[in-house]
Amino acid sequence: MDKVRKPIVAGNWKMNKTVAEAIDLANGIKRDLAGCKEVDVVLCPPFTSLKAVSEVITGTHIDLGAQNMHWEKAGAFTGEVSAEMLRELYCHYVILGHSERRSYFGETDEIVNKKTKAAITANLTPIVCVGETLDEREGGRTEAVIEEQVRGSLKGLSARELVECVIAYEPVWAIGTGKTATSQQAQDVHKFIRGILEDMADESVARTVRIQYGGSMKPANAEELLSMPDIDGGLIGGAALEARSFVDIVKAAM
Ligand code: 13P
Repeated sequence: MDKVRKPIVAGNWKMNKTVAEAIDLANGIKRDLAGCKEVDVVLCPPFTSLKAVSEVITGTHIDLGAQNMHWEKAGAFTGEVSAEMLRELYCHYVILGHSERRSYFGETDEIVNKKTKAAITANLTPIVCVGETLDEREGGRTEAVIEEQVRGSLKGLSARELVECVIAYEPVWAIGTGKTATSQQAQDVHKFIRGILEDMADESVARTVRIQYGGSMKPANAEELLSMPDIDGGLIGGAALEARSFVDIVKAAM
């Protein structure tokens, strides 16, 4: 696939896999993708498996990511981990503002914004998630919701910092439901996000930032979604829990 931007496919394992299972899955993925240079491949296991997965993928082209972090460097924040702690475990990416964090754990754009800034300062690439609910889509509010989330989550970032970010468009109604946005629905929102980036910074930033699609992406629909001009990869949930399907999605991005 001839893309302007290097595709990036990340597996968000969510709260799945024990350490032993995580090692197995990472080994299965490594078997096929250790030398993959055409696509940035990122594995995001739960905190408890970061170290073990890091050891499996060391020396390969596969990168490690976390699913969340706190914005402070250290302190009395029971249950939280900092960007520095993630760097110490060789994380290069961190997923921020996933819709599950927003809806179950009360994360607002302001919180996501603080985390995004802290991640960049610590040299972690944030994967900043945005997406509308079914109600919002049916009420014709998709663009307004996406615009508020993108501007709020990326507020105050310089052009140089914006290009350090990856954005993931994940329509909430497509997550874990088996319902995928059509490639045209996804493309329209991705293009809209690029327009916001151009307005926030400039055309070069808009052209550079990679925007992933997430929401029931699987081998059967990956190629069509990834063939759209503004879709630069995927953030995969369910289909990332099995080596075969994750590898097939990565191959569709090549
Ligand atoms: P599913 O691929 O299971 O729909 O999950 C998508 C997602 O939330 C990735 O972050």
